[in-house]
Amino acid sequence: MSAAPVMPVDLSDPATFAAGPPHEFFTWLRNEAPIWWHGPTDHEPDGFWVCTKYRDVIAIERDAATYSSARGGALLMDMADGTELMMLNQDAPQHTRLRMLVARGFTPKVINSMADSVREATRQIVAAVADKGEADFVTAFAAELPLVVISELIGVPYEDRHKVFEWSNRMIGASDPEYGGGADEGAAAAFELYAYAQSLADDRKARPMDDLVTQLVTGELEGEKLSDIEFNVFFLLLSVAGNETTRNLISGGMLALLQHPDQRERLLQDMSGLPLAVDEMLRYVSPVQYFRRTATVDTELRDVPIAAGQKVTIWYGAANRDEEIFERSQEFDALRTPNEHVAFGGRGPHYCLGASLAKLEIRAMFEQILGQLPDMQLAGEPQQLHSNLINGIRHLPVTWTA
Ligand code: HEM
Repeated sequence: MSAAPVMPVDLSDPATFAAGPPHEFFTWLRNEAPIWWHGPTDHEPDGFWVCTKYRDVIAIERDAATYSSARGGALLMDMADGTELMMLNQDAPQHTRLRMLVARGFTPKVINSMADSVREATRQIVAAVADKGEADFVTAFAAELPLVVISELIGVPYEDRHKVFEWSNRMIGASDPEYGGGADEGAAAAFELYAYAQSLADDRKARPMDDLVTQLVTGELEGEKLSDIEFNVFFLLLSVAGNETTRNLISGGMLALLQHPDQRERLLQDMSGLPLAVDEMLRYVSPVQYFRRTATVDTELRDVPIAAGQKVTIWYGAANRDEEIFERSQEFDALRTPNEHVAFGGRGPHYCLGASLAKLEIRAMFEQILGQLPDMQLAGEPQQLHSNLINGIRHLPVTWTA
């Protein structure tokens, strides 16, 4: 098969994503070079492999012995000191131990028990702005909910939750001119967040409460608990992994509905389709664009030789539009089924710990928005976050009938 040649773009450069993910290039890659060598760039002097096919993303994630998360970490740039304690950057057996410890906070029982308060939080968020008739959707709707929910899950006091918002913005947006002031600013924000996590842990050790922090820092499981530094790093991971992703899925999902009024209409006619629409938003938006692994041995993928030590990146948003798996893969079809997307990962050992919580939040949010503000309209140009990691929207001006 031969697709029209497309100019390669620099996937290591945040500016490449200023107008959204380069889907045209991804389509070319899937069809012409599914295992493609991205030569060295200013941002990434080593060069790296780019994998865009659905089946390859799954195969790589499930073969953690060949494709390590611990050698260099899960992001393109080798990880900073200290972040090897983050589960995302670990392999078995360290990863297995940490995952077992923290998974206690994410059992179906715990998540189900949060359903009412998540719904109540969305009601309050929507009620607080419903009379205004206009807003920046990102700050007014999308950003609030994940913050409230993570804060509640971890046990961050209500009045401190905007600090977590600001720190995670500064960390994730370090590459974006509006949010970040570069790598130093990102590191400073991480440092402040660690200090805050430590104070929270100290507080719970002195005054145990019925929350996740208390469980993680005092509770023991088979003789194991998190060390202080492990807890601080986990707190950082959660505040980024749980906030930025869900926020941008809600914004990106809303934008998809606004740009496809026929699909919104289908949902307004029959809200029982909402769970399917949530999965379609996840597939279509794919808030996490890529993660990285490193080959531990000389190996090959689709007959392409990969050398030990080389970086291998897997692109979720590209895999989620693989025409071999999804019919009309570039289209947003709110009631698409089947829809086994990989927005939360390929069901390997690092599969998203917060997947059910995220789905609960997204469903609750769209129930409220579609129910209360069914005529929401786009009122200006959406502005995209400059990041190759998060497919994000900085601003999304909307109006509705108050
Ligand atoms: C729409 C929302 C979200 C998306 C798209 C998303 C996506 C992902 C992806 C792609 C991974 C890596 C999977 C892999 O390597 O196999 C991941 C891991 C993770 N996610 Fe999420 N996530 C979301 C929400 C959340 C939430 C709400 C939380 C926590 C409250 C969370 C916590 C985590 C953690 C802790 C990991 C690391 C797991 C590990 O290394 O074992 N995520 N997520």
